[in-house]
Amino acid sequence: MINRIYPFLLMASITWACGSKTEKVNTEDYGEPAAQTEKVEPAAPVSEADMIAQGAALVAKNDCTTCHHQTDKLIGPSHKEVAEKYAFTPENVTMLAEKIIKGGTGNWGQIPMTPHPNISEPDAEKMAMYVLSLDGEKESK
Ligand code: HEC
Repeated sequence: MINRIYPFLLMASITWACGSKTEKVNTEDYGEPAAQTEKVEPAAPVSEADMIAQGAALVAKNDCTTCHHQTDKLIGPSHKEVAEKYAFTPENVTMLAEKIIKGGTGNWGQIPMTPHPNISEPDAEKMAMYVLSLDGEKESK
C-alpha cells in the first residue's frame, strides 16, 4: 500500500515544488553531492496525463457520478463547469482535493457536497486534476 502510494506522493511533491520555483537545476551543480541527492530521485513514471487518467478512473469508481456529470448539471455542478471556474494550479488542486474529502457548500449554491473521508489525499488530488483538466487546461507550473 505504502509502496503504491509513495511514487504519487513523490511526484506530487516534485510537481508542487516545481510550481513554486521557476528556477531550473543548474547543470553546473551536477558535481555537487548535495545537489545531486536532490536531483537523482528516481523519476517516477507518472506524468500529469497519467494522474489525470487515474483521477478519471477514480471519479468513475466512486459515487461522484451520482451528483456530477462531466458536462451537465445534476445535483452538483458539472465537472466541466468546475474546470471553467478555477484555474488549473497546484493551489486549486489542493483546495478541490480538500473539498472532495471534507465536502461542503457555498461555492455553487446551498446544496452540500457529501464528505469522502475514505478517499486518500493523493487520490483526491488526482480527481481534482482530472476535473480541472476538463476545460482543456494543463496544470500551470
Ligand atoms: C451527494 C452529491 C455529491 C456527491 C456524491 C459528490 N459531489 Fe461533488 N459537489 C456536490 C455539490 C452539491 C457541489 C457544490 C458545492 C458547493 O456549492 O460548494 C459539489 C462540488 C464539487 C466540486 C467543486 C468544489 C468547489 O468548491 O467549487 C468538485 C471538484 C467536486 N464536487 C468533485 C466531486 C468528486 C470528485 C466526487 C466523488 C468523490 C463528488 N464531487 C461527489 C455534490 C456531490
